[in-house]
Amino acid sequence: MPIKKCLFPAAGYGTRFLPATKAMPKEMLPVMAKPLIQYGVEEAVEAGMKIMAVVTGRGKRAIEDHFDISYELEHQIKGSSKEYLLREIRELIGRCTFTYTRQIEMRGLGDAILKGEPLIGQEPFGVMLADDLCTREDGEGVLAQMVRIYERFGCSVVAVQEVSREETGKYGIVAGERIDEDLMRVETMVEKPDPEEAPSNLAIIGRYILTPDIFRRIEETKPGKGGEIQITDALMAQAAEGKVIAYRFKGRRFDCGSIDGFVEATNYFYEKERGREEPKA
Ligand code: G1P
Repeated sequence: MPIKKCLFPAAGYGTRFLPATKAMPKEMLPVMAKPLIQYGVEEAVEAGMKIMAVVTGRGKRAIEDHFDISYELEHQIKGSSKEYLLREIRELIGRCTFTYTRQIEMRGLGDAILKGEPLIGQEPFGVMLADDLCTREDGEGVLAQMVRIYERFGCSVVAVQEVSREETGKYGIVAGERIDEDLMRVETMVEKPDPEEAPSNLAIIGRYILTPDIFRRIEETKPGKGGEIQITDALMAQAAEGKVIAYRFKGRRFDCGSIDGFVEATNYFYEKERGREEPKA
């Protein structure tokens, strides 16, 4: 079954970016002139997904407005030298459909994904955490790579990267049986373990392909780390049946949920875009 939908859990507060995120969704923080969530939508579209299912919360309306037409603004700049600045987002909006629902209470990533079920239905889907900004210079994006892995194995896929031992407490950590250099059949998954308890240093980053049985698994999942419903724990139920593949993706990932990662991403894209000429109006 082709993967047509991508779920964006976007209800979190973004407390690490206060006061910037007091009235603005963290997903709208820009790296260069583009909000984080737009990078995510572009990656999902590149992976062949056409329906963006966004789980939002209070104070997140700017996301909906961003993926809409702004008639007044567009009327104002029509025919001016600024018109090209909106061309990319206009094209993107034209290529996909956005659906929204709200997570009323913050009960964890697993719960946020479950809240997206009415938007997804009974089909496999992608999950994109927009504050993990991923880029690939010379080839397909991370989600597109994962779709191919899904097509091969037909089960859930998580993107992983190696992190230092001291950092295991920030991620879901996986271990299992290697299939080849970049693939592993997951046997164990632990949410944010202390370094001494971590089964490996392979960390899940914010890209998933999930089979729809995950929704029932989430319902059966008890609150875990931090008292929240963790997607890692729900995935562990699939992993126990050999139905989760970890994929060491090709490309770079910036942790834009942290100031350090955000600044790194900004520097990276600045270098990349510097010298790129502004198209003539
Ligand atoms: C979430 C997941 C975690 C994963 C991480 C990737 O944590 O719970 O398993 O490793 O995203 O960014 P969060 O960063 O939302 O605390």
